[in-house]
Amino acid sequence: MKLTVRVWRQAGPAAAGRLVAYPVDGISPDMSFLEMLDVLNQRLIEAGDEPVAFDHDCREGICGSCGVVIDGRAHGPERTTSCQLHMRSFADGDVIDVEPWRAQGFPIIKDLVVDRSALDRIVQAGGYVSAPTGSAPDAHATPVPKPDADLAFDNATCIGCGACVAACPNGSATLFTAAKVTHLSLLPQGGPERAGRVLDMVDAMDAEGFGGCTNTGECVASCPKGIPFTSIATLNREYLAATRAGRR
Ligand code: FES
Repeated sequence: MKLTVRVWRQAGPAAAGRLVAYPVDGISPDMSFLEMLDVLNQRLIEAGDEPVAFDHDCREGICGSCGVVIDGRAHGPERTTSCQLHMRSFADGDVIDVEPWRAQGFPIIKDLVVDRSALDRIVQAGGYVSAPTGSAPDAHATPVPKPDADLAFDNATCIGCGACVAACPNGSATLFTAAKVTHLSLLPQGGPERAGRVLDMVDAMDAEGFGGCTNTGECVASCPKGIPFTSIATLNREYLAATRAGRR
């Protein structure tokens, strides 16, 4: 495949950025999107140019570090992570735009790399259990209704990539926060901090500069792990219940 990749280049947080067009050929449809960027970077390095900075780690769709906006969509045209997107999703001769996540809560560090530590601070505010869990227990030592266990697991699959924030016109982290709150509120181990958790995590979310949720649903449409929209309803119910219980 022969492509033109227009990449957002920005030398640092305070520098001006712009899209720079690079022709890239010899791309296999079986390459991942990040492997295509590797090929581009190898050629930039060989030419004595600065390679494109982009974040990645597992390249297996589980760490959440690789998100970029591809042709205006978080993680690109497929509902998967950027590292699991393959070049067969594009056509020979395509012009592909690659930009960083854009949100107030995700300041740009360089090129395609943004600071997503705000999500870590939201989790730090309440996304944990204090109950000692010891070593791995027998599967049924703590009975959990099957629907609750399944829904808790669905929400636990959130990898914190930030696509929900990048896709949201408000730059809201509500789906991310909702996944963490829903996951723990459904399980008995999450009970002791249940009320304080939701209040503290929502406070942290607001303090980090993320926008409010107006139920546009772009977050759900772009989530590579399929976190359901109903999790936001659960977050709202948990928040109301905690407020009524006099925790705030
Ligand atoms: S590099 Fe880990 S999810 Fe993409």
